[in-house]
Amino acid sequence: MSGDSTQGWRHPGYLAVIDLVAVRAGLLPPSCPAAAMEGIDRAMARAGLSDFPAYLAQLEADIAMLDDLLVELTIGETYFFRNPEHFQFVRHQVLPDVQRRRGPAHVVRAWSAGCASGEEPYSLAVLLLEEGYGEKMEVRATDVSRAALARAQVARYGEWSLRGTEAGRMRPFLHLEGKRYTLDAQVRARVHFDYLNLADDTWPSQAHGIWGMDVIFCRNVLIYFNRSTIEAVARRLHASLADGGFLITGPSDPTLGTYAPFETLLTDWGIVYHRPAAGDASRRSFPSVPPPAPLPPLPPRVPPPVAVTPPVPAATAPPPKPTTPAALAGARRALEAGDWREAVRLAGAHPEDAEAEAVAVRALANLDALAAVRRCAEAALRHPLAAELRYLEALLLLGLGRLPESERAARQALYLEPSLAVAHLMLGHILRRLGDTTGARRAFHTAESLCASLPPETLVALGDGERAGHLAEVARAERTRLEKAREEVRE
Ligand SMILES: C[S@@+](CC[C@H](N)C(=O)[O-])C[C@H]1O[C@@H](n2cnc3c(N)ncnc32)[C@H](O)[C@@H]1O
Repeated sequence: MSGDSTQGWRHPGYLAVIDLVAVRAGLLPPSCPAAAMEGIDRAMARAGLSDFPAYLAQLEADIAMLDDLLVELTIGETYFFRNPEHFQFVRHQVLPDVQRRRGPAHVVRAWSAGCASGEEPYSLAVLLLEEGYGEKMEVRATDVSRAALARAQVARYGEWSLRGTEAGRMRPFLHLEGKRYTLDAQVRARVHFDYLNLADDTWPSQAHGIWGMDVIFCRNVLIYFNRSTIEAVARRLHASLADGGFLITGPSDPTLGTYAPFETLLTDWGIVYHRPAAGDASRRSFPSVPPPAPLPPLPPRVPPPVAVTPPVPAATAPPPKPTTPAALAGARRALEAGDWREAVRLAGAHPEDAEAEAVAVRALANLDALAAVRRCAEAALRHPLAAELRYLEALLLLGLGRLPESERAARQALYLEPSLAVAHLMLGHILRRLGDTTGARRAFHTAESLCASLPPETLVALGDGERAGHLAEVARAERTRLEKAREEVRE
């Protein structure tokens, strides 16, 4: 934590523990000190130690103790067929592509990196079974949490693991025993679980079976890592792919395209990373963009659904000088075509125009997320009434895991534009990750109500083409998930 902030920490010993975890496991400083301190307290109690020097010495010496602590500082949240679009991509793009290149006898190699309690690799195994790869699959699954790996191997699950919209695909392979389901042995036998700390430089490795992967799922793990670990892990993930292999990360994970020679493929739900095979014709079947794209393409300009009276501008705000429509249109076209540098060049020539600034920020986000945050913050100062800039700033900060700052920017966007449903939705995600479930529920509820009050086909402001009806459903699902989780905790 480089000693710059002790705010919120009860004892410097906690900071020493966090620093050690950053060095050994590459984790970012926790965004919520209270929760981290509770976790450290629990881990110290399990270790039978109450003073920090002794605990730190044990952490240095005993890898199992570090693992035990990591479980407290990361979240094992997962469920079957989470993000079904990722599995659809495997079904419709990856498998036909592998078949075509490697022939029907090829054993498909898949890896769930950061598998938590196993729902993700078992979903992959079921997908491969469904597609007829019964004897022609090798599914590897690794995690740093030995407790999670043990749960994965026992493979007994509750309804909570089946909360995803496509979890029904697991039902044929689940046997109800009391209140829980046991996974069929034929699926269990397909997945090989192992301990692996992704921050360690011990992979790819033939000995560990981590090599030559046709598809890697590394979802919702990279969010915990600091920048240097993300870079190193990205390079190792690339090296672990077979030629022609694909890597799928989570929707909130940082983008990796600049850290390794991936080809980045833009789908309508996000980025897929590809290690092109020499002379690979499959490249032509995917829309491809040069660098990663953490922000979605520019949405159609839609006025916010409810008009609000903006606050009085600061007296120092520069008078607006409109950009020529042609210049802005050119910048938008470059952005939509994935020509980020050109979009930054064109839009960046008009710092006096908030819309152009937003285009520049979106494009820059694809090249350098930190530079985009800085530019966005500067632009927001020049354009204090531009809710979009605050919204983008919050989105970028969320992507970087800087949650308190992201929350502040989201609230500023909502202060400027209280009816901005997408900002309420994002605030819900931020607050949930900060552990404020009450606030998160409230934010999801507001997003749901705002969208439900519109005709379902209405395009939502800044919603990247999202319709009000669908966004209302998404917000409702998020709220219901939180409510269900609260009920489960009460039981
Ligand atoms: C939120 S879960 C993601 C589970 C699954 N990939 C998904 O998206 O549903 C994050 C997992 O990453 C694991 N993890 C955190 N740091 C790790 C590390 N350094 N190496 C390997 N796994 C790690 C945690 O133990 C946890 O099980």
